[in-house]
Amino acid sequence: MRRQAFLNYGKALSAYVGGKSPTYSEMLKAVLHSVEIGAPWFDRMARAWGGRTFTTDYEAPSLLLHQLHFAALAGEAPQLRAIFPMCSGKWTDGSDRSVIDFLEAAPASFWDELKHRRLQTNDSGRAAGWLLAACAAFLPRNLPFHLADMGTSAGLTLIGDYLPRTFTLTTSNAEPADEPPHWRDVPYPVLTRVGLDRSPVDLFDDRQRAWLRACLGPDNEDGAQRFDAAAELFLRLRRDPKFLQLIACPFQDMPQSIAAAIAPHAQEGLLIYNSQATDFLDAAGHAALAAGVAKALAPWGDRGIWVEFEMPRDKSSRQHQLRVSRLIEGRFETRTLAQATGKPMELAVLTGWDFLRPLGTSAPPRNTREEPLKTLEPGTYRFPPGG
Ligand SMILES: C[S@@+](CC[C@H](N)C(=O)[O-])C[C@H]1O[C@@H](n2cnc3c(N)ncnc32)[C@H](O)[C@@H]1O
Repeated sequence: MRRQAFLNYGKALSAYVGGKSPTYSEMLKAVLHSVEIGAPWFDRMARAWGGRTFTTDYEAPSLLLHQLHFAALAGEAPQLRAIFPMCSGKWTDGSDRSVIDFLEAAPASFWDELKHRRLQTNDSGRAAGWLLAACAAFLPRNLPFHLADMGTSAGLTLIGDYLPRTFTLTTSNAEPADEPPHWRDVPYPVLTRVGLDRSPVDLFDDRQRAWLRACLGPDNEDGAQRFDAAAELFLRLRRDPKFLQLIACPFQDMPQSIAAAIAPHAQEGLLIYNSQATDFLDAAGHAALAAGVAKALAPWGDRGIWVEFEMPRDKSSRQHQLRVSRLIEGRFETRTLAQATGKPMELAVLTGWDFLRPLGTSAPPRNTREEPLKTLEPGTYRFPPGG
């Protein structure tokens, strides 16, 4: 990595963190200034990353900021704890010097760890995308369905139906929108839950969990609380080994892994999901993934959908869009059905949801396979025995 490339990435990131994280904004300024004036620590970072390429403009500087945050959270950088609100600290005059001093003297282990780091922020709130789509496509038909989450990190979005609904819904005119029927059901009729990731995060491992917490950023108290609550519930639910499956594989192999893990059934649906994940694919990689997903959905007829909660691929905005794709008369068609508004945890529901209506005659609902029908009242959780 060259200094100029990192400075360009840093500029892109500063536009993003500016409104979101005052602490990272200040840190980024300090780091970029230090790189500009030729600070020697940059060479250690560049050596650690070697020939690694970054497909998104915000990844490299984000990883450095998160690794600093991680070092403080993990108790490995007492001098940085004073800076981070998550460690009860606060950015003050002179904090920039603490950051640069730390980088100048950082132990080899800091750079070794940074070398392999990936952005793996896992926000259970982003489950809103698959919940909304399921409410339109499956729940009105009483159709139980399988859920596969691509780029799942630790898998927290897979349990979104067990967690409070954090997104508020508006119309495209910013008026409050009606919630769809079943929106607050707990749980949804999910038959299997499968998360796929190049490196799935194990929440039972404290160090891996701390990395996810670091990735939330230092000024995100709400996000941290949401993460802790979701992680606790996730660990309890996972005591049932059949509750959820995590599979390690790269994006290009995911559609095939999903097809191998979940056999089509005439009275079940399949929802393939990804949120804030395919940003790490270039255009060709995303097109190949779409082709693979279309192939995996084909045997499911009008009961298979692909739901993406991602930023627009043309980078015209940093707000997530809800894009849904399905096969219609042999063509894979896509609609944008909702849009994050820029206000935290707010989603504008657009028109066109008719796109998810059944295309053929619906089979009568039935209780599929050996799984008992889930009829838990909203607000109750199904814990494994002894949980
Ligand atoms: C920012 S996290 C998002 C996690 C989760 N979907 C959410 O919304 O909270 C992106 C995830 O995509 C995974 N990922 C990135 N590139 C990948 C690739 N080429 N193959 C498989 N997984 C990848 C990362 O490991 C990471 O866990």
